[in-house]
Amino acid sequence: MTFALSCRDVRRTFPTPSGPLEVLAGVDLDVEPGEVVAILGPSGSGKTTLLHLLAGLDRPTSGEVWWGDLAVHERPPRAWARERAAHVGLVFQDPHLVGELDATANVELPGRFAGRRTPGRARDLLADVGLAERAHAHPATLSGGERQRVALARAWYLDPPLLLADEPTGSLDRATAAQVFERLVDLARSHGRAVVMVTHDEGLVRDVDARYRLAGGRLTRDATDAP
Ligand SMILES: Nc1ncnc2c1ncn2[C@@H]1O[C@H](COP(=O)(O)OP(=O)(O)O)[C@@H](O)[C@H]1O
Ligand SMILES: [Mg+2]
Repeated sequence: MTFALSCRDVRRTFPTPSGPLEVLAGVDLDVEPGEVVAILGPSGSGKTTLLHLLAGLDRPTSGEVWWGDLAVHERPPRAWARERAAHVGLVFQDPHLVGELDATANVELPGRFAGRRTPGRARDLLADVGLAERAHAHPATLSGGERQRVALARAWYLDPPLLLADEPTGSLDRATAAQVFERLVDLARSHGRAVVMVTHDEGLVRDVDARYRLAGGRLTRDATDAP
């Protein structure tokens, strides 16, 4: 089978004043199309480092990262800008919306950059995340949870087969975080898209297909949800 995302023996070492710091010490992961995966780990365990490698924003010290048949590890991050937009949707803790643009125009941004705008798509995606009524609101007038849902809709605009999310609910209160997380899972399931979400928030992660833990630079799958 072709996985939406694979990594093989991924290692990442950073040079530091006190010597090399090995943050990832051989990580393996396969994510099927339509699968929703959570990676849990405490602060400092290397979650963001791993997500950047999976997104092709950083290159592993050694090992392989694949988006389907594309060998992401073989080229430097800047070489992936165009393919990344088509293959990977990204959501971060901070929604990074453009303040001058309304919700609809923010959602359309990836289409603008890729030269692929689809009339009505932003409106449909905003409806999918429960923001039909807020389509013309500016970010400053939206709540934190609403802003993050706009960021989700934007990550989906070009319909990438893979969505990567780094603590997407990290700046939200518990109830709002749970809502945003549910939207993310619904959107993935209804569109058959693969999702990898990293978080330190154990309580948030329900209804996922697989749960992994990152510790000591290695990823292990929780036995409880093994197939
Ligand atoms: N560019 C870098 N240079 C040196 N150390 C780094 C760099 N990026 C991350 N680290 C270190 O790697 C470890 C893991 O960081 P990070 O991936 O951000 O963890 P998490 O997202 O799980 O909190 C930390 O000790 C951090 O200081
Ligand atoms: Mg992090």
